[in-house]
Amino acid sequence: MAKKLVGALVVLGLLGGLSAFVYALTTNKLEIGYNKGYMPDQPIPFSHELHSGKYKINCQYCHSNVAVSRHSSVPSLNVCMNCHSVVKVGSPWIQKITEAYQNDTSIAWEKVHLLPDHVKFNHSAHIQAGKQCTDCHGQVEKMPVVYQHSSLSMGWCVNCHRQPENNAPVNCGTCHY
Ligand code: HEC
Ligand code: HEC
Ligand code: HEC
Ligand code: HEC
Ligand code: HEC
Repeated sequence: MAKKLVGALVVLGLLGGLSAFVYALTTNKLEIGYNKGYMPDQPIPFSHELHSGKYKINCQYCHSNVAVSRHSSVPSLNVCMNCHSVVKVGSPWIQKITEAYQNDTSIAWEKVHLLPDHVKFNHSAHIQAGKQCTDCHGQVEKMPVVYQHSSLSMGWCVNCHRQPENNAPVNCGTCHY
């Protein structure tokens, strides 16, 4: 039974991979899935290496809703201003941030990760099950520019769910609408 299920998953995984590939080719949307290493240019050179590596700012200080919600949102500018109202105020980048903050606008960060719409992913379930940011995002605190560390493919998700110690569901409805 388990073997059959695994077999079915492998076949479906291959089919899924093939259709994702064809989809990517035909729509030119290579940013969806199989996008390991994707590292878009950001409007402000925000460095995780500096903030989380050198200055040891906790991930959840900025990505504060990751343990309780589906998405781990990028922080709003008031979080930056907690420090940058006094830190490095002479920098043109910090001046840009301050100006946006004062005008009540935001910085248009480019999304690094983007799952297709038919996939359900939920941060809180993973954080509550004890998973670490590094398990999926790699060592972000060493990245001057953040990039996609994992493939985010179906096989990647299912492989981890299948580990006995994770005891995580692998039925289709868990991850698909
Ligand atoms: C643990 C999560 C997870 C489970 C369980 C899962 N999938 Fe997926 N699936 C994904 C993710 C993530 C993608 C998108 C990335 C990709 O295409 O590989 C995907 C993609 C697909 C695609 C490709 C769709 C496209 O547009 O290319 C198909 C088809 C698919 N899944 C079918 C299934 C079926 C059938 C099952 C049950 C046997 C299943 N999945 C179970 C996570 C999952
Ligand atoms: C000082 C605030 C701050 C801290 C601390 C911080 N981040 Fe971020 N994070 C950001 C901002 C701003 C962005 C959007 C700009 C970018 O992508 O570089 C971001 C983007 C990201 C992204 C990419 C989001 C996407 O678009 O897909 C990931 C993943 C991420 N952070 C993970 C982490 C992890 C893991 C840590 C801890 C090691 C961490 N962050 C610490 C502010 C922070
Ligand atoms: C089990 C794997 C996993 C873990 C653990 C994980 N993430 Fe993610 N993260 C993802 C996936 C998958 C996406 C893409 C989600 C999407 O496109 O809907 C993502 C997206 C993000 C984003 C972009 C915004 C969003 O939610 O789409 C940020 C920021 C982020 N993660 C930060 C973190 C931080 C900080 C931690 C640790 C506290 C963390 N993640 C833990 C898999 C994970
Ligand atoms: C807990 C304090 C703290 C927070 C919060 C913080 N930063 Fe910083 N940031 C620093 C420190 C410290 C430096 C290094 C200053 C130096 O080089 O003297 C720095 C440097 C920077 C630089 C480099 C400036 C330059 O010209 O060298 C940028 C850009 C930056 N931060 C953006 C941000 C953004 C965007 C946010 C919000 C998402 C943010 N920071 C949140 C403390 C913080
Ligand atoms: C590093 C291991 C790991 C990876 C990678 C991973 N998961 Fe999970 N996932 C888990 C664990 C552990 C649980 C929690 C099982 C439990 O205790 O209920 C879980 C639970 C879930 C749940 C159930 C949430 C709920 O509300 O009960 C969904 C949906 C899910 N994962 C989707 C995904 C998708 C989609 C991906 C890939 C994009 C993915 N996961 C990648 C380990 C992982």
